[in-house]
Amino acid sequence: MNNTVEKPWGGRFTEPTDAFVEAFTASVTFDKRLYAHDIAGSIAHATMLAKIGVLTANERDAIKTGLEAIRTEIEKGEFQWSIAREDVHMNIEARLIDIIGDVGKKLHTGRSRNDQVATDMRLYLRDEMKTIVAELSRLQTALVTLAEQEADTIMPGFTHLQTAQPVTFGHHLLAWFENLKRDHGRLIDCAKRVNVMPLGAAALAGTSYPIDRAYTAELLGFDAPTENSLDAVSDRDFVIEFVSAAALLMVHLSRFSEELILWASAQFNFIELGDSFCTGSSIMPQKKNPDVPELIRGKTGRITGNLMSLLMLMKGQPLAYNKDNQEDKEPLFDTVDNLRASLRVFADMIPAITAKHDNMREAARRGFSTATDLADYLVRQGVAFRDAHEVVGKAVRLGVDTERDLAEMSLQELQGFSDKIGQDVFDVLTLDGSVSARDHLGGTAPAQVRAAAQRARTWIADSQ
Ligand code: ARG
Repeated sequence: MNNTVEKPWGGRFTEPTDAFVEAFTASVTFDKRLYAHDIAGSIAHATMLAKIGVLTANERDAIKTGLEAIRTEIEKGEFQWSIAREDVHMNIEARLIDIIGDVGKKLHTGRSRNDQVATDMRLYLRDEMKTIVAELSRLQTALVTLAEQEADTIMPGFTHLQTAQPVTFGHHLLAWFENLKRDHGRLIDCAKRVNVMPLGAAALAGTSYPIDRAYTAELLGFDAPTENSLDAVSDRDFVIEFVSAAALLMVHLSRFSEELILWASAQFNFIELGDSFCTGSSIMPQKKNPDVPELIRGKTGRITGNLMSLLMLMKGQPLAYNKDNQEDKEPLFDTVDNLRASLRVFADMIPAITAKHDNMREAARRGFSTATDLADYLVRQGVAFRDAHEVVGKAVRLGVDTERDLAEMSLQELQGFSDKIGQDVFDVLTLDGSVSARDHLGGTAPAQVRAAAQRARTWIADSQ
C-alpha cells in the first residue's frame, strides 16, 4: 500500500512513500510535545526575517497570527496530527499554509528542520530544567526542615551496613542534602550549555540570506547563537549532559530510597512512612509496602538506560545532521517525565516521615557504637591508639559474650582491661556524649547539625 499525501519535499520523488516506511520514519506521535517551542521558534524566525526585509510586516503578522491560532487548536485538542506530515515541524507548517495560504510557505525561508529541531529541543529542555530545579529545591528544603527537627535524634551510623558509630539523624539527612546540592550545581551548569541557539545553521552550512542571528537569539532568550553551523545541527551533547546529570541525581534518590525501605522494615523499624506514600497487599493484611521509594529505585534503571541509549545514539554519527538524532527525543522525554515525578513525590514524602526515636537510639546502643569513643578516651590517658584499639576489642568481646553494651559494664570490669580507665569514662560511653564530642565543621554533634542546616537554608535562598 502506498501513500498519496503530498510531501513538502516531494518534488524530486516519482514514487510515493511506502505506508509502512512513512509510519516508521515519522516522529509526530512523540515530538508533538515540542509544539509550543516550535511555534515560539517560528514566530521569532519570522520576526527576524521581517527585520532584515525578507518578509513584509504584513506577511510576518499573518504568519504570527496563524501560528498562534494553531497553538490554540493544539491546546484545545482540535488539531489533526498527521503521520503523513511526518513530524511536529511539518504538521504545523502544513496547517499554517491551510489557514493563511501561500504566505505560510515563506516561513521556512532561511532555515531547515535541522536547525529548527535542535532549537526546539533546547527551548523545551530549558523550560523543563527550570521545573526540575524548582522541585529539587523543594526536596532540599524538606530535607533541611526534617534535619532541624531531628538534630538531637541519635541513630546508629553504618559502614558496611554494620553499626559503626552513633550519629544524629539530622546529620544523616543533611548528607543527602549535600548530594543533592551537587546535583543542583550540575543542572545549573548544564543549563548554560543548553541555552545557545542553533537557528541560522539551516540544514548544515548556514543560509545565503542576511539573517540576524543575534536578534533571533535575543527574541528567544538564548544567551548566544551557536558558533558553528555543522556543530549546531549535529550535536546532542546538551541532551546527554542533562540525562547524565539526571541519572546521577536518580542514583542519589535511589540510594536514599533504599535506606527508607530498610528503615521502614520491621527489622530496622527506624521510621514510619506516611500512609499516603505506601500501599497494602491484596493478600497479606499486615503489609504496608514502601512503593514510592521502591519505584524511584526502579526508575533509576530506566533513566540510566536512557543515558546509555543517547551515548550509543551519538557514537557513530559523522557530521552533520543524521536522522538517527530523531531518536534523541523519547529517552529525553522519558527522563524529564520520570525525574520530575520522582522529585515531586520525594519532596512530598519527606515531611511525612516519622522517626521512631526510641528504636533508633536502642539500635545505636546495642551495636557497641561508642567503642571508638572508649579508644579515644584511652588515647587521652596516654595509651597509643593501636594499644587502645586492642583493649577496647577485648571489652567488646566481653560485651558480646554477656550481651551488654560497654556503658552497662561496671567500672571495675572496665578497669580489668586497662588501669587507665576512671569513673569519667562513662561520660564518653554514652551516646549523647559520643555525638556531642564530634563538634567541628562537618561533624555529627547536634550543634553542628543546626549550624549546617542554617547554612543549607542560606544556600537554598541564594540558589533561587
Ligand atoms: N523529526 C526530525 C528529528 O527529530 C526533524 C529533523 C528532520 N530533518 C531531516 N532532514 N529529515 O530529527
